[in-house]
Amino acid sequence: MMSQGQRLGYVFEFSVLALVFWGVPGTRALDNGLSITPTMGWLHWERFLCNVNCLQEPDNCISEQLFMQMADLMVSDGWKDAGYQYLCIDDCWMAHTRNSKGKLQADPKRFPGGIERLAHYVHSKGLKLGIYADVGNKTCAGYPGSFGHYDIDAKTFADWGVDLLKFDGCYCDTLTHLVDGYKKMSLALNRTGRSIVFSCEWPLYVRPFHKPNYTEIRQYCNHWRNFDDVSDSWQSVKQILDWSSSNQATIVDIAGPGGWNDPDMLIIGNYGLSWDQQVTQMALWAIMAAPLFMSTDLRHISPQAKALLQNKDVIAINQDPLGKQGYLLRKYHNFEVWERPLSRLAWAVAVRNLQELGGPRSYTISVTSVGRAVACKPACFITQLLPVKKELGLFEWTSTLKTKINPVGTVLFQITNQA
Ligand SMILES: *[C@@H]1O[C@H](CO)[C@@H](O)[C@H](O)[C@H]1NC(C)=O
Ligand SMILES: *[C@@H]1O[C@H](CO)[C@@H](O)[C@H](O)[C@H]1NC(C)=O
Ligand SMILES: *[C@@H]1O[C@H](CO)[C@@H](O)[C@H](O)[C@H]1NC(C)=O
Repeated sequence: MMSQGQRLGYVFEFSVLALVFWGVPGTRALDNGLSITPTMGWLHWERFLCNVNCLQEPDNCISEQLFMQMADLMVSDGWKDAGYQYLCIDDCWMAHTRNSKGKLQADPKRFPGGIERLAHYVHSKGLKLGIYADVGNKTCAGYPGSFGHYDIDAKTFADWGVDLLKFDGCYCDTLTHLVDGYKKMSLALNRTGRSIVFSCEWPLYVRPFHKPNYTEIRQYCNHWRNFDDVSDSWQSVKQILDWSSSNQATIVDIAGPGGWNDPDMLIIGNYGLSWDQQVTQMALWAIMAAPLFMSTDLRHISPQAKALLQNKDVIAINQDPLGKQGYLLRKYHNFEVWERPLSRLAWAVAVRNLQELGGPRSYTISVTSVGRAVACKPACFITQLLPVKKELGLFEWTSTLKTKINPVGTVLFQITNQA
């Protein structure tokens, strides 16, 4: 039983959060009917970078063959069924010059069939194709930028049958050019009449100079990168999580159907993360309502990483139709408790063990202390989803939930109200 003092403490905590996060939603989203739940797919960058050496590394270079192989596997290995629909090309697909009509063109050696044929192939598999361009004079890797060509590039992508555009912010000389460029490209995509998800890096490039205007960004983009590129390391994933929680008062409320904060790709299935660290990335990307772009080699992925990326229950949390992003609720003795409100009065709760030495540590949660004190009122059903699924049964409002978490690991729960 809780004492009266404890209870007041929880009520106080609840009201502070209510001020910060239960703010008025309803900032207008980009009106293209897309990304009503966070976009899911595969993006080549983190795993394949700008490998253009098809002579020596034919299997790992940025070529139509790579994307066709991934498309095949996305269907045959259950990725599409799990919800991963967008197969996305990042930088380094282009030829170094535009064609005689001023249009972007794919590198003719690496994409002999061109993007249009690749799009047909991808569509024939029931998937969608994403592509990459840049708001400035060059892409980050030095290929032609879209500055001065927003309309023609939008039209080219639409004509090819592209379904998503990742628009980077390198080689852009002024903030005005950057902000205007993102707006112009968004409007140019709209004018093509084709439904194209618009993935922006606008706030990432604005932030060093001034606070991004998220109200505005949400009106033009379906998701937006706020922070550095993810790399294949725990350090990188930790920094992204720290940045997200430190800035949650600014970014959490702005997310919702049609517009999401993008903490960058899932690196699960690669080299840099231990099992517990991979579980942490998956659990927290679900809590944060993040777009789920895997960047891994689907031809060589362990059954364990595959099962984690295809975990239906965790994906369902990420894709919850209420569309509210979760947040860090409290940090205590090297534990972090995160929570996310879900539809039908359900909640997701993640407990991270930040300690990077020793063994598993126990943490006890009063069920009143999560889900704004009402998740479990008068009772709830709790299921542990990660690291393994376990139905934990019925809990009363005054009860506690005891859990054990591995170092750098996370335990993810779903709380279903039994009103
Ligand atoms: C373009 O924008 C208008 C209004 O903002 C919207 O109704 C329409 O669906 C959009 N079209 C596309 C293709 O996104
Ligand atoms: C692109 O280059 C031109 C010519 O140097 C320059 O005038 C323009 O401002 C540049 N645009 C961006 C977005 O950097
Ligand atoms: C942010 O953009 C919105 C929509 O364009 C605008 O109404 C608002 O004044 C801007 N806020 C700031 C601080 O510039």
